[in-house]
Amino acid sequence: MIFGATGDLAKRKLFPSLYRLYERKRLNKFAVIGVARRQLTNEEFQASVRESVLSSLGNKENLDDFISHFFYQSHDAGDSNSYAALKKLADEIDGHYTLEGNRIFYLAMAPEFFGPIALHLKSDGLTDVKGYKRLVIEKPFGHDLASAKELNKQIRTAFSEDEIYRIDHYLGKEMVRNIEVIRFANAIFEPLWNNRYISNIQITSSETLGVEERGRYYETSGALRDMLQNHMMQMVALLAMEPPIKLTTNEIRSEKVRVFRSLRMVEGEQIKDYFVRGQYDEGAINGKQVPKYRDEPMVDKESNTETYVAGKIMIDNFRWAGVPFYIRTGKRMSTKSTKIVVQFKDIPMNLYYETEKMLNPNLLVIHIQPEEGITLHLNAKKAGGHLDAQEVKLSFANTGVFTMNTPEGYEKLLYDCMRGDATNFTHWDEVAYSWAFVDKISEVWQKTKAAFPNYTSGSMGPKAADELLEKDGFFWWPVTDLDVDICQ
Ligand code: BG6
Repeated sequence: MIFGATGDLAKRKLFPSLYRLYERKRLNKFAVIGVARRQLTNEEFQASVRESVLSSLGNKENLDDFISHFFYQSHDAGDSNSYAALKKLADEIDGHYTLEGNRIFYLAMAPEFFGPIALHLKSDGLTDVKGYKRLVIEKPFGHDLASAKELNKQIRTAFSEDEIYRIDHYLGKEMVRNIEVIRFANAIFEPLWNNRYISNIQITSSETLGVEERGRYYETSGALRDMLQNHMMQMVALLAMEPPIKLTTNEIRSEKVRVFRSLRMVEGEQIKDYFVRGQYDEGAINGKQVPKYRDEPMVDKESNTETYVAGKIMIDNFRWAGVPFYIRTGKRMSTKSTKIVVQFKDIPMNLYYETEKMLNPNLLVIHIQPEEGITLHLNAKKAGGHLDAQEVKLSFANTGVFTMNTPEGYEKLLYDCMRGDATNFTHWDEVAYSWAFVDKISEVWQKTKAAFPNYTSGSMGPKAADELLEKDGFFWWPVTDLDVDICQ
């Protein structure tokens, strides 16, 4: 059951992902009930599913058969009669498609409905099933630790922790999933993966889009809650965690939680030494003039909301003591890119020089999107010269090798949920620790007015973000330069 079936997420991501699973024969016995407020007939709903598949995947075979598995139920989220009607329909469909009482409830709607719907699902008997029942829940999971706890309490009355699948769509991305394999399946990285050999790690997730039509939501969230609390922190955890003793959901999650427990908590006056906020001014993106954040629809003209965050995250444990994890994310930046740069320490002295120039440090770049791959930056002899060293790059591009587009994140996450694999969903403990960390920052930022806007649209963020690294003797590796060899 998809709650919010007439919404944007369902149309852009969920229906096409379901089709791809169907096409790959990963959906055998299935039926989908679209649930939303609007009055629609099954035929109208099926037409919208068809339209969504056609517009994202083009003309497809067996589309008629696929959409015949879709049903629609108009719904009032606060009314038990609606749930009774839904239960009746679900029970009928279950029999018809021999679904063995297995049920997935996907909440793709405004977060204020998450708790009440979960409570109704239980009190109105929809979770009373012979098979499994699972709840898939979109972000944001609360607004801060207190509201996340309250929400968790509500959904836990109807579902146990192992029945709850909290989506972080970054965990569906191919190269985010690859972090673990790159780290734990290579003899050459794991021995170096610590504070003796790594000087710093940089994670950049930049977007060129502005806040679009989401001003109302974004004003209460900002980049800190929208991107850092979830996606960025998840990448930090995957990069920093200890090797799990087994690749099971619980083992991996408990290693990630240990990272969150080792985060250096910064608060009050310290925040300004670790975190920088920004808000976009007008500017040009790909030659097109764009307005400043404060002129976007449904945004306060004096808004104090950040559209950019950069930060230094310290993990105070044996492996990482002293190694900064720098993160930055923002809207209306110069390029759409997510990359991780692992910078290794300099060698003790440089024997190979032509000029006074230092050798480039070794870098391991993990390209998350839009290109997918890895690049290893080494130094090697300049061809024909004496013994001068120059930088060479070894590149692996996912798309180049497998000549296929990797599946959409949502497709993988939906499939994982059907198989009952919650590894790539966030456990409550991860959510709670990362809120506790982020709350300290937002408490300070809410109280103090920033000098916004402070970066031009189409730039890589405010100057203070560069200074954050400069004072530690580092600089942000320019993401576009790192691209060059991977996209050919
Ligand atoms: C979402 C945020 O979680 O992630 C959006 O709410 C953001 O504001 C998006 O644009 C970025 O996702 P991606 O996959 O495009 O990097």
